Amino acid sequence: MEKDIFGKALLDHQSGNYSEDIITWTNISDKDELPLPYLFRDYSEMPKLEQKALQLTKGKVLDVGCGSGSHTLYLQDKGFKVKGIDSSKGAIEVAKQRGVLNAECVSLLDYSKEQFDTILLLMNGTGIFQEVQQVASYLKHLKSLLKPNGQILIDSSDIKYMYEDEDGGTWIDLSGRYYGELDYYLSYKGEEETPMKWLYLDFEMLKTACQTVGFHCEKVIDGKHFDYLARIY
Ligand SMILES: C[S@@+](CC[C@H](N)C(=O)[O-])C[C@H]1O[C@@H](n2cnc3c(N)ncnc32)[C@H](O)[C@@H]1O
Repeated sequence: MEKDIFGKALLDHQSGNYSEDIITWTNISDKDELPLPYLFRDYSEMPKLEQKALQLTKGKVLDVGCGSGSHTLYLQDKGFKVKGIDSSKGAIEVAKQRGVLNAECVSLLDYSKEQFDTILLLMNGTGIFQEVQQVASYLKHLKSLLKPNGQILIDSSDIKYMYEDEDGGTWIDLSGRYYGELDYYLSYKGEEETPMKWLYLDFEMLKTACQTVGFHCEKVIDGKHFDYLARIY
């Protein structure tokens, strides 16, 4: 996120200057609000999938794309040794201000310092992989960050439903790119972020990609709206 508009919004909320929400849209969906307080949620406000991921967490933890550090902080308070990384400078600043002891501004592929027992990627964790073509390289990199018997807990959604019209037909172009590969746009206080690629992966696609790099992938639970939590090991 080149202009770090996401980070600016988090910083505003953290410093008591919350007045507007982030606006997001994609190549297949209209403008929608992403309420800033949601990015500061506590355990009771988290979806079941995220609560489940936190319950399954063990050992030393890496929270990838930690944002303002909501999951990191919960685990830290429970006594886990946890590190949060995020490519947004503002997000890491906020995570630190909120009390995260170990937070670093770095992109996932550039991070290779330590190994972990649990790696978390939450709030559409596959988004960070950007496109189907890059999934295997991201998974291989994540593998290099795992200790023996380590696990990755990641959530995503099958967004086929977004292509359905009122009569139940779908308009997915089968000759085009995978339907979960989206162009993602974000604006905040009138400023627009450089467009990003953001990937939603259905469970079977994730499982197949995992198999190609020698990982097992199992579904832990389904969420309320075509979303799921997976455990990769
Ligand atoms: C949808 S937000 C989720 C934030 C947080 N996990 C939560 O649930 O509130 C995705 C986060 O991933 C970060 N991110 C995106 N690409 C990344 C990358 N390649 N490496 C590290 N962080 C990344 C973004 O800056 C953003 O904070």
